[in-house]
Amino acid sequence: MTVNIALLGFGTVASGVPFLLKENGEKITAATGTDIQISKVLVRDDAEKSTLLAQGHDYQFVTSIADILTDASIDIVVELMGRIEPAKTFITQALQAHKHVVTANKDLLAIHGAELLKVAADNGVALYYEAAVAGGIPILRTLANAYNADKITKILGVVNGTSNFMMTKMVDEGWTYDQALAEASRLGYAESDPTNDVDGIDAAYKMVLLSQFAFGMTIDFEKVRHEGIRKITPEDVKLAQKLGFVIKLVGEIVERESGIYAEVVPTFLPQHHQLAKVNGVMNAVFVESIGIGEAMFYGPGAGQKPTATSVVSDLIALAMSVAEHYPAPPFNTFVRETVYAQKEDLLDKYYFAIETEDKTGQLLRLAELFDAEQVSFEQVFQESIGENRASIAIISHRMDLNQFDSLVEQISALDGFKLRNTIKVI
Ligand code: NDP
Ligand code: HSE
Repeated sequence: MTVNIALLGFGTVASGVPFLLKENGEKITAATGTDIQISKVLVRDDAEKSTLLAQGHDYQFVTSIADILTDASIDIVVELMGRIEPAKTFITQALQAHKHVVTANKDLLAIHGAELLKVAADNGVALYYEAAVAGGIPILRTLANAYNADKITKILGVVNGTSNFMMTKMVDEGWTYDQALAEASRLGYAESDPTNDVDGIDAAYKMVLLSQFAFGMTIDFEKVRHEGIRKITPEDVKLAQKLGFVIKLVGEIVERESGIYAEVVPTFLPQHHQLAKVNGVMNAVFVESIGIGEAMFYGPGAGQKPTATSVVSDLIALAMSVAEHYPAPPFNTFVRETVYAQKEDLLDKYYFAIETEDKTGQLLRLAELFDAEQVSFEQVFQESIGENRASIAIISHRMDLNQFDSLVEQISALDGFKLRNTIKVI
């Protein structure tokens, strides 16, 4: 039997799908009892079609989604165009046409995933998206299937390859943010608009998806506190190293007594922490649970072949259901009411980098603010940075998120002080 699929888009990831279907065809056929055939490929226009044909790509290229939607022989649609529209409309239409859909589109899923999953369920088909989190690491299916007997209490993730590449250069080579961004762009990791990668937005999308699989709750993207790596300076990096930490952009999801919380923030990780060793464009997801304890899933978070491997894994699961005429199970069946944690339930240590005039009494003014919030200092460093200015670095003891927000507001408003950066300390 043959299961026909259509690809929407033929860019980096999509063009890796034929490679795997061909190179691994024997194993896929043995496992599924089917041949997966690319029946049609949606491209932007006739010019792209001509270019791809001239390059030797021997597919039926189409420029209208209707050619795919009305083709009853196509069972599965693979959306690899990216962005919100027209991907959202095309996926909706494919599901309504009773075709299963595979996508890697985390931007779309983090914001409109619930709506699309409902369309899938209403039409008796499935929407799978293993590649949307940490590209080549099979983490979503692992959480949905292998962790079904366990209770997850915390997820930590380095899930954005671009920002992790940049942070690795800033830590290992002492590069500035701008130098690291220039190199990430030169190597093609950072997009022409790197905002989503460097401002923690891409990682926050992935936290929304991970929260569904690990905790059964769908966190609203707007509620994922996210901050990127733009403000990190060589001084922050040096101080972290002196104290035995590595700075990384880390996503965290925790379930506390009052509910769930997710954030993506620059973080001081102890050098011995497994995540501290995840360098370059690599990704890792660190899972804490009551059964397994601690486990880390490490691998390439992006790239043509790793990401296409996750896409094809979804395709295989769906092709089996098509071939054997059973309904494809939903990708994730763990669903609970989403309950958000109270801020006072969220306790962490923080690093505060502050600049001020180098004169008596300045540290005392800061100490008074911390004292009023009942937060104590764990370590304090001060050095003169010239022109009668001083740089003060404070590592606090644990405080809750109300105390942290209040201190940030008060220090920012303090006359003669500049709060240069804050970083979470694990
Ligand atoms: P690319 O930009 O390389 O490919 C997307 C392709 O889709 C482009 O050729 C684009 O054409 C085409 N396209 C866009 N809109 C349309 C349209 N309306 N009709 C027809 N073709 C269209 O993206 P990637 O392959 O890198 O990413 C694909 C998806 O996978 C995204 O959702 C991304 O977030 C996700 N992903 C990517 C990873 C990676 O490593 N690259 C890793 C994990 C997920 P044009 O160039 O003309 O715009
Ligand atoms: N831009 C993303 C990254 C691609 O750098 O990790 C994979 O989702």
